[in-house]
Amino acid sequence: MNNPNYNFREYEAKMGRPMNVAVAGATGAVGVEMIETLEKRNFPIASLKLLASARSAGKKRMFKGEEITIEEMTEESFKGVDIALFSAGSDISKKFRQACVDAGCVMIDNSSAFRMEEDVPLVIPEINPEDAFKHHGVIANPNCTTAIMAVAVYPLHKAKGLKRLIASTYQAASGGGAPAMQELIDQTRAVLNGETNIEAKVMAQRLAFNLFPHIDSFQPNGYTKEELKMVNETRKIMHIPGLMLTCTSVRVPVMRAHSESLNLEFEQDITPEEAREILSKAPGVIVRDDPENKVYPMPVDATGKYDVIVGRIRQDISRNDKRGIEMFVSGDQLLKGAALNAVQIAEVLNR
Ligand code: A2P
Repeated sequence: MNNPNYNFREYEAKMGRPMNVAVAGATGAVGVEMIETLEKRNFPIASLKLLASARSAGKKRMFKGEEITIEEMTEESFKGVDIALFSAGSDISKKFRQACVDAGCVMIDNSSAFRMEEDVPLVIPEINPEDAFKHHGVIANPNCTTAIMAVAVYPLHKAKGLKRLIASTYQAASGGGAPAMQELIDQTRAVLNGETNIEAKVMAQRLAFNLFPHIDSFQPNGYTKEELKMVNETRKIMHIPGLMLTCTSVRVPVMRAHSESLNLEFEQDITPEEAREILSKAPGVIVRDDPENKVYPMPVDATGKYDVIVGRIRQDISRNDKRGIEMFVSGDQLLKGAALNAVQIAEVLNR
C-alpha cells in the first residue's frame, strides 16, 4: 500500500547530502555486496544501519574502518533512515514496506514483490534513471538476469529498434542466495568424496556436476516465474510494452556470475561491427570479443566486476537479412544483477 501522505518534497530537500542508509538483509549474499558497494563507491553516508533477522543480531561488521553491530529488523528500524536497501526476500519486503513508507524512508527493493506494480518504478540507472523520481516510497531493483541482459541490449535497441529477443540463461548458484552457494560447495565436495546420495535442500535439484531448467516455480503456461520476470520486467524498464520476448532459464554450477545467450531481432539492419561499436561506448558494458584469441564473456571474468561483458557478437545465420544478432553476455549476479544496481539507484536519488 502506498502512503498518500508520503512527502516526496521533504525527501527531495534532503538530496545531495550524506544520507542515513539501512541495509535490510545485511548478512545475505546480496546484502554483503550492498555494504561493500556502498563503501567502494564512496556513497555519501551520514549513518549506516545493518539489519537482519534476530539470528544475526549482535554480530559485527566493518564499514569504512568502523565496527557496526547488526540489529534485528523491526518496524521501528526505519525511523530517521532516508534510504533502505532491501534484500531479505519478498515476504520481508512486503512485511516492512509500510513501516518504511511511514518513516519517510525510500525502500530500494531487490525482491520481486513490487516490481510490476504500476506506481513502483523499476529502474536500471543506465536505462531509465528518470523513472526513479516517480516513486511513492518504493523503487524496485530488477531481476538479476534481466538487469544483466538489459544493460547490454538497451544501447542496441536505442540505435536499431529491438523487435524480438530470445534468451537462454546460464544462472549461477548465487541467485539462490548464500544458502544455495553453500549447497553447491557442499554437494561438489560430497561428489568428489565419492558420495552417491547427493541431496538438494535449498535448490530444486542437485547442482554439482549438473544443471537444471527450473528456477522459481512453474506457471500454467509452462514457463517459470523467473522466465516471465525477464519478459515482463524488460518491457517495463525499456518502455516497450509490445516487445516480443521469450526466455529459458537454467541453473548452472557456477558460483556467482550469470551468463546469457541472446538472439536479437531489430527493426533496422545491424552488423556485428556496428553492434560492437555501439556497445563499446555503452555505459556499464565492456566488449570482450576476440574468439580467435579465446576472448569472450565468461562468468569467472565477470565475477566481482561492475560491467557486463559482451562478446561472441555475430550475424544470425538463420535469417536471410541483416536484422538478427547473436551475442553472449556474462555479468556479476550479485553486483549489476543486484547490489550495484540498487546502490546506483540510491546514487540517482542523491544527485
Ligand atoms: P539472517 O542471516 O539473520 O537470516 P540470502 O538471500 O543470502 O539467503 O539472505 C537473506 C537475508 O535476509 C539475510 O540477511 C537474512 O538474515 C535476512 N532475513 C531472513 N529472514 C529475515 C527476517 N525474518 N527478518 C529480517 N531479516 C531476515
